[in-house]
Amino acid sequence: MSNSIPHEHPIDASTRYCAVLGCPIRHSASPALQNAGIAALRLNWRYLALAVEPERLPEVLKGASSMGFVGLNLTVPHKILAMELVDELDGSARQWGAVNTIKFEAETSPGTWTSLAREDPPAGARIRSVGYNTDADAIVRSLQEDLELTLEGSSAVVLGAGGAGAVAAQRLAMAGVDHLYLVNRTVSKAEKVASLIRAHNPSQHVEVGYPPPGKKVGLILNATSLGLKTGDPIPWDPGVLDLRQASHAYDMIYRPAETPFLQTARETGCRVANGMGMLLYQGARALEIWSGQPAPVETMRNALRRHLETHP
Ligand code: ATR
Repeated sequence: MSNSIPHEHPIDASTRYCAVLGCPIRHSASPALQNAGIAALRLNWRYLALAVEPERLPEVLKGASSMGFVGLNLTVPHKILAMELVDELDGSARQWGAVNTIKFEAETSPGTWTSLAREDPPAGARIRSVGYNTDADAIVRSLQEDLELTLEGSSAVVLGAGGAGAVAAQRLAMAGVDHLYLVNRTVSKAEKVASLIRAHNPSQHVEVGYPPPGKKVGLILNATSLGLKTGDPIPWDPGVLDLRQASHAYDMIYRPAETPFLQTARETGCRVANGMGMLLYQGARALEIWSGQPAPVETMRNALRRHLETHP
């Protein structure tokens, strides 16, 4: 674990746990990110990464709750599944239709639910799980901070309409992106996302497909999984979209640090950023939800950067 801050608490009988659940999970940089934040907040917690297949998610959520876990993060393929499995949904999860963060709470007196961050629950207390989404706001924060983009009134192409692409497109629409182009291999999924956006805001310009040749756009965002593995096809059709049409390019993928998409975009003159910022901000917000304290974002950023440099 590339954690520069030594954890002042050795693991002992008071140590509490958080974890990210996913399948596959070995690529996850979340333990490096979160354990650095946890150490900086001087919490006697540890953050684990656990490989969990989707069929086992219900029993794992029950187990984590029974073992006094403080909270969980969820990654592929659990985010949508968990909507049905948590006891309560925060407004963020309801709004974006996906759960990437769970907080466990104990019923400390009838009807009063308290986070498990500070103390052990009273013996026999009921525990409930509350699902949140911290991904959607993290996308926008990363675009604003890492690319210095002004989203209000701008235009964007979103590549991908799976879980990540659907949330990104809807969040960009909410941030005031004026014209959205949604591209996906399975066109029906992009149509569905476009309908959701139009239902929410009928005046929104949202089209399924690429912008016309020569039309300039502010942002092209890769939310497909293409580029994660060497030899993947590129996520856009260069015969239809010239990346010179975009001024900024963002790839949600952070490992590898530069996908062929991002490399091409950089070489054609786009300002580029990878998904490290999105990972950082969704994680920082999750730590705030669990701990009730402001997250040490710069410490977490440095730990994440170091981890990715040493584990490219
Ligand atoms: P996530 O939660 O990470 O978004 P997902 O919902 O499985 O995961 O979505 C993966 C995205 O990558 C989808 O947009 C998917 O396109 P389809 O909806 O058509 O499946 C896209 N994708 C994955 N493999 C692809 C491939 N070989 N060619 C084109 N698009 C691909």
